Amino acid sequence: MSLAQVFREHPNRRYIEFGGKGGLGKTTFSAATAYWLAKQGYKVLVFSVDPQASLSDIFERDIFGKGAVEIAPNLFAQEIDADQRIREYQNQIRQKILDMYGLDEVPKEIEDYIQATAAEPAMEESAIFDAVVDIVVGGEYDYYIYDLVPLGHALYYLSMASVYDEWIDKITALRAEMQEYAQVAAILERKKQTEEDQILAELQDIKKRINTSSGILTDREKTAFFFVVTPEEMIILDTQKAATLFAKYQVPISGYIVNRVIPPELAQQNIPAYLQNRIEMQNKYLKQIDEIFGADVVARVPEFERDITGLEMIGRVAEALFGGEA
Ligand SMILES: Nc1ncnc2c1ncn2[C@@H]1O[C@H](COP(=O)(O)OP(=O)(O)O)[C@@H](O)[C@H]1O
Ligand SMILES: [Mg+2]
Repeated sequence: MSLAQVFREHPNRRYIEFGGKGGLGKTTFSAATAYWLAKQGYKVLVFSVDPQASLSDIFERDIFGKGAVEIAPNLFAQEIDADQRIREYQNQIRQKILDMYGLDEVPKEIEDYIQATAAEPAMEESAIFDAVVDIVVGGEYDYYIYDLVPLGHALYYLSMASVYDEWIDKITALRAEMQEYAQVAAILERKKQTEEDQILAELQDIKKRINTSSGILTDREKTAFFFVVTPEEMIILDTQKAATLFAKYQVPISGYIVNRVIPPELAQQNIPAYLQNRIEMQNKYLKQIDEIFGADVVARVPEFERDITGLEMIGRVAEALFGGEA
């Protein structure tokens, strides 16, 4: 089945993800798929949760931390600034503490705690996760394309629900600490009831958001997950392993896309032995890929003569991915 066919036959799969090791072409294919879908009149958002995001590079526009930026008609791109998100979090927590306990200043112990928590990697992940939830529950677009981080991270991201639980535990611990605060004990007593309701409501809201987002990630009806693979021994092995892990998280895989295929027609030309060898080696791995992933291989994309940046090159990749099919 071709990639275009996969999209045609599964019109409800509106959350598109490309997975694979770093540098294989996830960002490139995310952008090209967004471009192709937008050309067909769908409103598309391609967004990145990668701190080393390169949507800015590929679209040749500085979009980092600027929200959804319209790149072309129907085509929107967004790079999430996790640090900004964390600062917003911190301010919200400070404000909540000030309001709740009627203080003018956040007590030093609590401020130290807020600072320490923000420095934890889990906090960044959780900020990113929250931003993603905001985007996908927004429902503004026909298609959402996640420009995913390399595999290890992606798996971590999938288990984010548990990281969130940790964060919730920390909030609960913070509450306990606050309760020990002698100065505010009296105020606390009076406010306890409403405060408890508030926090419970917040936790329920967070849970709902987690369920919505992880539900989307693993919903075969709504999500299409593609692995990017290149015709190289180690990459094929890694992809097999990753596919097994993803199966464990019940992420449905919609297909495999082979990138960086040296154009086979070159073999018919008078080419140096060096290139001839490379092509023969590649043929061996292409055969292996077909044997392992079989009918799930939905596209082969050639190695282009230059990096993929700018809409014209993105268009050429889209053509290779979707075979010019509309
Ligand atoms: N088929 C291709 N031909 C030429 N360059 C490519 C091709 N696919 C990807 N690239 C280049 O390889 C680099 C890595 O691709 P990228 O999409 O950023 O990978 P990832 O997002 O998986 O880390 C980029 O510079 C990109 O332009
Ligand atoms: Mg990338």
